[in-house]
Amino acid sequence: MKSPKIVVDGLCKVFGPNPKLARELLAKGATKDELFARTGYVLGVNNASFEVHEGEIFVLMGLSGSGKSTLIRLINRLVEPTAGKVIIDGRDIAAVRRSELVSLRRTDMSMVFQSFALMPQRSVLANAAFGLEVAGVGRKEREQRALAVLEQVGLAAFAQKLPAELSGGMQQRVGLARALAVNPSLMIMDEAFSALDPLKRKEMQNVLLQLQKEQRRTIMFVSHDLEEALRIGSRIAIMEGGRIVQIGTPQEIISNPADDYVRAFFDGVDTSRYLTAGDLMQREAVPLIRSLDAKSVASSLNGSADYAFVLDAQHRISGFVTRDAIGAAQPALKQVECITLGTPLEQVVSRVCANTTALPVVDDEGRYCGSIDQAAVLKVITRNRGAAHV
Ligand SMILES: Nc1ncnc2c1ncn2[C@@H]1O[C@H](COP(=O)(O)OP(=O)(O)OP(=O)(O)O)[C@@H](O)[C@H]1O
Ligand SMILES: [Mg+2]
Repeated sequence: MKSPKIVVDGLCKVFGPNPKLARELLAKGATKDELFARTGYVLGVNNASFEVHEGEIFVLMGLSGSGKSTLIRLINRLVEPTAGKVIIDGRDIAAVRRSELVSLRRTDMSMVFQSFALMPQRSVLANAAFGLEVAGVGRKEREQRALAVLEQVGLAAFAQKLPAELSGGMQQRVGLARALAVNPSLMIMDEAFSALDPLKRKEMQNVLLQLQKEQRRTIMFVSHDLEEALRIGSRIAIMEGGRIVQIGTPQEIISNPADDYVRAFFDGVDTSRYLTAGDLMQREAVPLIRSLDAKSVASSLNGSADYAFVLDAQHRISGFVTRDAIGAAQPALKQVECITLGTPLEQVVSRVCANTTALPVVDDEGRYCGSIDQAAVLKVITRNRGAAHV
């Protein structure tokens, strides 16, 4: 397996004058509140350990003050850790010299913030080219590269305008273009879209997802919005009081929230929208028949099952047989429609509800994976709606 892009190991940050005292108290298991009460020190990040894989969008989520910004600043070392390690591309960044770190930040890590901090007197093009200018790239080349990224974010026609002539959403795209222009392998985005209205925000998420399809950078993305995290995150880490309380894919977090703090983020969000057929299928609910003869039909339908799916040699669905087929010399094979693993819940619901039998779920090669019946659909819908009222 490929080595991870980032490894974070036992990372802690305490804001206070005496790191040694802070480490001692942390080692005794002091919480954020206890530490503050005893010393006045603020616990920013408490013993975070995780890996970020190359090419994924890793979202950090949590309430205000939970330590998201501190954690990402520890990663690019704008903040010095109290304890623990950050390893990027196999290199312990504690061992990287200051000067090297500065050049690394300029060329291989980009940051995008909530306030886009564009330079008002400079053109959109000059703003997009700024990171390259700081990195010492000559004018012609940096303008070419900046124009290419402005094209990617849909702003090439505005290259000669001033930032003030653009809407907030467009200005945020200039901020994104500036970060992309240096072609970093790691992008760190702290609430980058939070100041935008919901529509602009969704539009930026789409721009990011589209770019990600083409370029596959590693992105660490801070957000306090669950819907944003679910839409763009390959995985999500949820922070509370400096600790990471859960890490998982959107589906893992929705299906299995670690505690009430995590569940509270679901409030008002229809999380079922983010589930797919693969998340709700049952693996062994429907009996399977591998060869369609009277004996196999009788033995697979000898329990309470009303029907069984028939598979071919490649494990693909040929159809299904019902109890009427028991005893028939040539059991009648009935047609059944299949649902693929990635089908969103909304489509699963309408298709399953239009059928009396469970529908088989298949992978991209058409191989049988599991089944979904009406009861499974109802269960997931009521559970997720229910969670919104806890
Ligand atoms: N430079 C600092 N000095 C002292 N305390 C700090 C400093 N920076 C952050 N903190 C504290 O560390 C904790 C985590 O702050 P951080 O900014 O990382 O939270 P956050 O999750 O990014 O919050 P928000 O969603 O509001 O941006 C908070 O209690 C904060 O007060
Ligand atoms: Mg923050």
